Formats: sequence, structure tokens, C-alpha cells
Amino acid sequence: MDNKLIEQINENTSIVDLVSEFVSLQKTGKNYRGLCPFHQEKTPSFFVSPEKNICKCYGCGEGGSPINFYRKIKNISFQEAAEELAEKAGITVEKVAKQKDPYEIFYKLMNEAKEFYKFNLKNSEKGQEALKYLHQREISDSIIDHFDLGYAPEHSDALYKLLNDKGYQVSDMIKLGLVKQKDDGSYYDLFSNRLIFPITNPKGSVVGFSGRTLSKKDSIKYVNSPETVIFKKGHLLYHFNEALPDIRRNKQVVLFEGFFDVISSYHAGIQNGVATMGTSLTIEQAKLIKQFTDSIIIAYDGDEPGMKATLSAINILEKVKLKTEVLTIPESLDPDDFIKAYGPEKYEGLFGEYLKDPYQFRYHYFKKGKDLSNSNDITAFKNQVLEMLAYADKPVQNIYKNRLANDLNVSPDAFEIKTKKQPPLPQNDVLPKKEVSKLANKYEKAERYLIYAMLRSKNDSKYIQARLKTSDFVDHVQSTIRILIDSYYKDHELMDVLEFVNSLTSEQREYAEHMLFKDILWEHSLPIDELEFDQLIGLVKNANLVRRKAYVKAKLDQDDYKNDVLLEEYKLLVKVK
Ligand code: UTP
Ligand code: MN
Repeated sequence: MDNKLIEQINENTSIVDLVSEFVSLQKTGKNYRGLCPFHQEKTPSFFVSPEKNICKCYGCGEGGSPINFYRKIKNISFQEAAEELAEKAGITVEKVAKQKDPYEIFYKLMNEAKEFYKFNLKNSEKGQEALKYLHQREISDSIIDHFDLGYAPEHSDALYKLLNDKGYQVSDMIKLGLVKQKDDGSYYDLFSNRLIFPITNPKGSVVGFSGRTLSKKDSIKYVNSPETVIFKKGHLLYHFNEALPDIRRNKQVVLFEGFFDVISSYHAGIQNGVATMGTSLTIEQAKLIKQFTDSIIIAYDGDEPGMKATLSAINILEKVKLKTEVLTIPESLDPDDFIKAYGPEKYEGLFGEYLKDPYQFRYHYFKKGKDLSNSNDITAFKNQVLEMLAYADKPVQNIYKNRLANDLNVSPDAFEIKTKKQPPLPQNDVLPKKEVSKLANKYEKAERYLIYAMLRSKNDSKYIQARLKTSDFVDHVQSTIRILIDSYYKDHELMDVLEFVNSLTSEQREYAEHMLFKDILWEHSLPIDELEFDQLIGLVKNANLVRRKAYVKAKLDQDDYKNDVLLEEYKLLVKVK
């Protein structure tokens, strides 16, 4: 998209109308003002200038042109924001450069399923019972809509039939875990007589479902979609995309254990809540949170498993350096139960009074239930506390050393803390060391990002292909993959990643699965801005120059290579920066 077009889109979008969709504005002289949507404030410092057609917050500095405002508030790429606004303004965007996500068809299919479940909740007889159940749990219709809750009919193949009628491949339905095949060859729906919670990825596409039983007899409380290419539980958080505006506003996220905790808390006014889905918090989830905020409250259940889970979450959050607080809910209740028992006001009050820092929480937790006159308990307690302090700042270490000394009736000098440094975050947990160091190489990364763009869109593939020579890629596997993508597009309009990967040699496939598809950018299908293409291409070209320069210099440094041609080339290479 060229600058003229971008300008045209900005000019044809009224900043006042656009901002008004998200912020209630008041006129003040020539301008408008309102509460900033990007940070929390009580007096409005967000200004909109119709004259200049821009907006700006004098509190946090956010704002900009219509496209910039829109991309930030919607958490989408520049390209996507420009295209959406162009459409609203009736401007035809010449280059249909919409970055195709190779899994687009899966998202469409999952979205159909979501609509099907929603429809059944409101319009079927058994759905009415599920609805009654939700109402009994004090979940209102507007909350049901916000969370897109649904109902899956019992022993049915209705979803299979619907999707089939709409022309979806049964193999895709099976891949996504919506449908299964019986021995007699017929198909049936996986979720049966369950309340359905759609789960979205950070960009808001439905990627999986969880179904809660409605019958007390059922031994399995929640059935989840199986892990698929688009549904990786350890990389996703329930309600993350939906909570993003509130996470941004509050500059904080609240982490819960269960769906119902997120939902009841939302109802009670805590709207920046997300949840893990029955597994302990992973480093990927922590990194995802860290991309959007620096502060988190852990609000797990107040029972023993909840405390254990809190401990492990604290350890993970320490690694990404998120400022962490722990909500300790009285009487071993979970958030949902607490709200039921004491009401939303008392619950919101907890967030003021019942927050502990991670050291307070752990110290208390380690001490609880120990008999400090029993030597085994003393040793265990002491070791737990010293271990916790290994990563702490000096002042924190001193306070807890004193507290421990006090509790054990000894001098603080009795303890020696082995201070450790948090190891730097690996780019990706699962990769061996060698690969990690390779990942850190920005040139390799530039090549990889260009490959993502090529995989996502034929247009972008052409664009990149036209600007880079085959020899421009350093990594030989990436270089061949790039050529293969280009030739794939010779007889395909859209990239089917699975098909493509299957056509690779085992070395290439290994690379694709361990490097290419492990990057957070790919897993969350985060788009690469078009503006970035040229930068990445520049970087790859530059890498070549740097390499060539090193090569020529090495040659010249060898005595028998005082070659004039090389010398000339070297002089040229030194000039280009
Ligand atoms: P909980 O048992 O606390 O569920 O499990 P809940 O959401 O609070 O539901 P209610 O209030 O009892 O109805 C916490 C989370 O663990 C996952 C779900 O994500 C759930 O929300 N879980 C639990 C499973 O994945 N499978 C299960 O069988 C149980
Ligand atoms: Mn619970």
C-alpha cells in the first residue's frame, strides 16, 4: 500500500466519528476530549482534533492518525487497519494484499461451529435447560453474549450435517476435533449435551471449544477440543483477546483458573480476566501476557491445588519479569463461589485488601502447617525460603532473612543465600541450545519472517521473490524452502501449509516443524506489516554485504591474494553501509 493511498484513507476517515465508536467524546472549543482508551484515568486527557484529523492522549502519549488509532485499539496490523477503514470509506484498495492466513478455512469452520452452538443454546428445547442452568448460576444474557456461550445437542450429528451442507471437508472437521467417525463409517459430533465455551486465539478467531457437562452423573466435567494446529492450550489463554481493551486500560491482567471464574468476575466488574485451561501456566502464556502488560494478579482458587498452582505460576512469571500480585481468597473459596457468597462489591474489595506480593504469599504458604519445633519441618521451611530468595533483590533478601531468623529464633547470620541470576529467556523452550543461538541471529529471523509472509500470501510471495536473489538467503534450508514456496504458488492460488509441509524432504520438514512453526509470530498468526517487508528485505541484503565484506577482507589478508579486483570491491563494500 503506497503512501498516497494511506493518506487518502486517513483523509476520508473522520477521526471524530472513528474515536466516538470507542470513547464518549465531549466538545471543548475546536476539539473534542474524552477518557483515554489506552490507559486508566479519571479526568479526560484524550484529545481529538477534527481540524488536523488526529487524536492524542496527553496522559500516555498514545494516538495518531485514524489508521494508527484504529490499529492500536483493535490490536490489528497497519495493513488490516488501513484495509478496514478503506472499506468503510468506500475506497477500493487496489492491491488485494490481504495477508492470507493459511488456516483461514479452519477459523471459518470453527466460527460456523460456534454459531451452531449459540443457536442451539437459545433455540432448542434442551438448550433451554442449559440456559436455565446458566441463569441459575446468575449469568445474564448479555454476559452469555459477550462470552459467546453455546450448547451442543446430545448424541447428534447435526453439526456434522450442517458443516457438510455448507461444503466443508469432513477431514477438516475431524482434524479440528469437532466430528468423529464411527466403526460403521458414519460421523457424529464430539461434543454432546454440553455447555460450550468457545476459545479464541489472541487475534480473536475461534480455535477450540471446551464443553461442560450438564449432568452431575458425568465423570468428565470439561471436554476440550484436542490439540490441533490452531489449538495449543499451552499457548492460549481463555478470554485473552476479548479482555485486551480492558487489560490495556487497566495496564494489568487478572489470571484465573476456571472459565466460570472469568465469567463471574466479568459480571462483577473485573473485566481484564483470563484463564488457563486446566493446565499450569506456561512460559508461552507468560510471554503472551508480557507483550501487552507488565502487571498481573494471580487469582487462583483458595484451596490447596489452587495454592500449588499459584506457586508454579509465580515461578514462571518471575522468568518474564512480570510484576506479580496474588489474590488470596478467604475460606478456600474460588472467585466464582466467593462472588456468590458475598456479592460483587465485597469481591472487588478483595482486590484492594487481599493482595499479597509473591514473597509474602510464598513465605506464608511455606510456613503454614509446619511445626517449627520439629527439626524436619525447620529444615524444610528454611530451605524453601532460602531457595525462594535466590532470585530476590538484596533488600527483599534481608527482610526475609530477618523474618526467618525471628521465626526460628536464631541469628540472621545463620543463613547464607546463594544468589542466582534469572537465566535470559530462551526464544523458545523446546529448542536445543544450538538452535536457540541460531534463532537469536537477526538475519536468520529476517529470512524466517519473509518466509512467513510468503506462506501467507501469494502476492507477498511474489513481491519478496522479485526483490531477493536466491543467493541472498544465508541459511540453505530456508533458501530451498523459499524456492519451493515460489514453485508451489505456480499452480496454487492459496497455500495449504499441511500439504506443503508434506511435500518437503525430511531435513526441510524438521526445520519447518522445529524452527518455522515454533515462532510466536507464526503460532499466533500475527501479521507482518507491509512496511516491515522492505526492512526485512534490506536486512537480508545487508547480511549478504556483511558476509561478502568479511570474505573479501579475509582473502586480502592472505598474502598471496593481493588482487586488484578484490581490493576495488573491498573499497566499495566499505563505503556502503
Ligand atoms: P474447575 O473444576 O475449577 O472448573 O476447573 P470451573 O470452571 O470453576 O467450573 P465450575 O465452577 O466447577 O462449574 C478449572 C478449569 O480447569 C479446566 C477447565 O478449564 C476449568 O475451567 N478443567 C477442569 C478441564 O479442562 N477439565 C476438567 O475435567 C476440569
Ligand atoms: Mn472452579
